[in-house]
Amino acid sequence: MTKNAPARYHPSQVTFHWLTVVLLFVMFPLGTFMSRLPNDAGKITLLTVHTILGSIILIIIIARFINRFRLPRPAHATAGNVFLDWIGKVVHYLLYMLVFLMVVSGISLSLQASLLPIIFGRSGAALPADFYVFVTRMLHGVIAPMLALLIVLHVGAALYHQFVLNDNLLSRMWYKKKTGDQ
Ligand code: HEM
Repeated sequence: MTKNAPARYHPSQVTFHWLTVVLLFVMFPLGTFMSRLPNDAGKITLLTVHTILGSIILIIIIARFINRFRLPRPAHATAGNVFLDWIGKVVHYLLYMLVFLMVVSGISLSLQASLLPIIFGRSGAALPADFYVFVTRMLHGVIAPMLALLIVLHVGAALYHQFVLNDNLLSRMWYKKKTGDQ
């Protein structure tokens, strides 16, 4: 990272980051709740919400990734340990990758199971009796806990920086408070 690296993330990156957090916070319980329901007509509204929010996440994650290379960003945080710093970088890339795979497996499942005409076209066709006949459903279900684990690691690292190293790392992922703030 250059000497001129900013002290905090660009406001668009901050917005995308916290929007992703909110959306993932909704998507995990929603997906888990849905998967326990029978595949009858009562599930269609939840599937519609899940699909729309998932598609919004896809747009945000692509925008974030493009911004990552387009905008200057703060130097990579250091915990004072080369290995931990390396893990931090890997976790960031894996987060992007797994969120992306989660969305792609969800969209592939919708296509395989012909869900789009049912949920958006209101075609009246019945949902497949069991989504697990589709390999993409297995993938979606396997990636979900892996992503959840990475999120726990990511949050744990942020809290470690904030409250153990006391380096106020979280302020980098928030908006500038007043003129004069870097
Ligand atoms: C980052 C985005 C997403 C997250 C975090 C997410 C999360 C989840 C979770 C946790 C489950 C339950 C997994 C399980 O218990 O095995 C699930 C199921 C499901 N998701 Fe997603 N999902 C995402 C994106 C999508 C997208 C974009 C679509 C469709 C376009 C989609 C369609 C589905 C479907 C059809 C199910 C199966 C529900 C069932 O088994 O009854 N998901 N999702």
